[in-house]
Amino acid sequence: VTLTIGIDVGGTKVAGGVVDELGNVLASNRRPTPAEDPAATRDTIVEVAAELAAQYPDATAIGIGAAAWIDAAGSTVLFAPNLAWRDEPLRDYVTKATGLPTVLENDANVAGWAEFRFGVAKHADDSMVMITVGTGIGGAIVINGKLWRGANGIAAELGHIQSVADGHPCGCGRLGCLEQYAAGSALVRFARAGARQQPERASQLLELAGGDALAITGRQITEAAQAGDGVAKDAFAQVGYWLGVALADLAQSLDPQIMVIGGGVVEAGDLLMGPAEQTYRDQLAQRNRFPVAEVRAAEMGNAAGVVGAADLARLA
Ligand code: BGC
Ligand code: NA
Ligand code: ZN
Repeated sequence: VTLTIGIDVGGTKVAGGVVDELGNVLASNRRPTPAEDPAATRDTIVEVAAELAAQYPDATAIGIGAAAWIDAAGSTVLFAPNLAWRDEPLRDYVTKATGLPTVLENDANVAGWAEFRFGVAKHADDSMVMITVGTGIGGAIVINGKLWRGANGIAAELGHIQSVADGHPCGCGRLGCLEQYAAGSALVRFARAGARQQPERASQLLELAGGDALAITGRQITEAAQAGDGVAKDAFAQVGYWLGVALADLAQSLDPQIMVIGGGVVEAGDLLMGPAEQTYRDQLAQRNRFPVAEVRAAEMGNAAGVVGAADLARLA
């Protein structure tokens, strides 16, 4: 058995795991991300990796998935819309500090790779598109069985395709990005606005939030939606709508075998996936008469980042 270490670096946590070649996680650990401090983030990554390497001295390599744009060589964090990272030569730093060969990749790319290899898309051998919904929106594109990294390493930045002309300003510098209409913060924004405009349809949601629309959280929206709250269900339907439009555009460009939506929002099940798939099909009009990609929810949950990063380290 070859074991590798996968590290998933997000805006809130650095999660690590030791992973075997079947994608099983044998050990894991996590720390909060000191997101405002790139040097501390780098050191947290090293600590998480070193701890696992000490537990499993046989581990041969490290894979890192980071919520950032990574260069073509897989060595440098170029930019991160939601983190303070700029031009950080992370790969070599981790290699030096741990003594292990290290692979650096975008967080959504590694999560998508995990779903393609071991998760909901494992039956697909050719192509997949995944959109991950969290603090930001990420993407992964697999073509001919391989992760598509683009000419400069920054392909599949699907959170920053435009949903609304002249819309909300985004951390990437553009206006109206998908990330501003379908990420976790958009879900909360839709629900808060709905609860203020139609409090009578938000009774469950407002009760969970102590009566204060501005105190509504993502978790409460999921809970209220599952209990039938009208405004909470609408918030998921709006996020689902924007995801569905994006999926239709991506199907037009890439004609993939399967399209996957990932991230915590898929826990809402049909409340999200229903509107997403309906919109996708409605928008494809003529194309929908032909075989089009199935739309599925990701299956691997939180483990996807760690497993995908570790697998890419093994394959490198
Ligand atoms: C970033 C991506 C990242 C995604 C999810 C986006 O804002 O541009 O690089 O994959 O958030 O973390
Ligand atoms: Na990506
Ligand atoms: Zn953007």
